[in-house]
Amino acid sequence: LDDLLGEGVTGRRVLVRADLNVPFDKSEAGKISDDGRIRAVLPTLIALRDAGARVIVCSHLGRPKGAPDPKFTLAPVAKRLGELLGSPAAFADDTVGASASAAVDVLGDGQVLLLENLRFNAGETSKDDAERGAFADQLAAFAEYYVDDAFGAVHRKHASVYDVPARLPHFAGGLVLKEVEVLRKVTETPEQPYVVVLGGSKVSDKLAVIKALLPKVDKLLVGGGMCFTFLKAQGHEVGKSLLEAEMIQTCADLLAEADGRIVLPVDVVAATAFDASADHDVVKAEAIPADRLGLDIGPESVALFADAIGSAKTVFWNGPMGVFELAPFAAGTRGVAEAITKIDGFSVVGGGDSAAAVRTLGIDESGFGHISTGGGASLEYLEGKTLPGLAALES
Ligand code: 3PG
Repeated sequence: LDDLLGEGVTGRRVLVRADLNVPFDKSEAGKISDDGRIRAVLPTLIALRDAGARVIVCSHLGRPKGAPDPKFTLAPVAKRLGELLGSPAAFADDTVGASASAAVDVLGDGQVLLLENLRFNAGETSKDDAERGAFADQLAAFAEYYVDDAFGAVHRKHASVYDVPARLPHFAGGLVLKEVEVLRKVTETPEQPYVVVLGGSKVSDKLAVIKALLPKVDKLLVGGGMCFTFLKAQGHEVGKSLLEAEMIQTCADLLAEADGRIVLPVDVVAATAFDASADHDVVKAEAIPADRLGLDIGPESVALFADAIGSAKTVFWNGPMGVFELAPFAAGTRGVAEAITKIDGFSVVGGGDSAAAVRTLGIDESGFGHISTGGGASLEYLEGKTLPGLAALES
């Protein structure tokens, strides 16, 4: 970004790919529950705006099916973006159509425009190079320069991430640079002891990163919905808890390979239903009643995990320990997060959900070394994969 600003951007049209895929309040339509991803890209937008650029921002939101869907409109995000910028952001109610073209045409120096959801266009996520390329042509036609500051989307081979930079002079935004710098440090030279905490619902989503990390870590602490498949692999009954039956053998193999370095909860908060008002109790992890499902790790597990975290010099955490959005099942995530803030070392929170948990639970963000905006992206970086968005910026 500094290179681009150095070239002088007054009056220039700059297309910024941001990741404004923010969570919304389930009980109130259009209410953003965590605006962290909008805040994270502000420095780039403000720098361009203040340098007099005509800033065209694009992003995805959710996973619409390649056609307009009002459930996934970016309109509320444009409103919040304007509030955070201190001056309204214009909003185009299509991405590359007549409305977007007209909005780009009238955009003045130092003004910011947000285009409607990229994924309302089948070309954005298409596996067909030509279809993606045609959409990228339309996006690229709006601007003279391209800046990628969507770290959360750099693992996607999508038109706005992968194909547009092949069509315009391209630059990495400050957020992308910072994220890569931190994740490189954790991947290449983590100070030992290195403890990784993984949660979230599915083992299958985390399998590749577990395999890549096992040889590098001192301890891998597993909570969240994914721990039940591991508990089952140890021979325990897990009641109605989340279970990926086809992953049980894989989990058994990982436990054998880890030789004690994978640490599982010893107790869980088990409820009669997935509901804040459901009956719930702390039970031993090996004795989950048949009619209950585990929705959080229990206090003994928090203490066990906190102990391992406390001795670490590097901690990477991805995925909540329980259903933190529901108050009775938030203590595990809170306990683990607080333990991470206390380490005498460097910590990284990776992931949309874990970052949102930190903010939703009101945990002091300054206690973490870095809070990543990328969930899947940071995991794939740790796996050592080539990320299409980063490769495109480098070419
Ligand atoms: C994320 O939330 O991890 C990013 O915004 C990417 O979203 P996606 O998984 O729908 O591509």
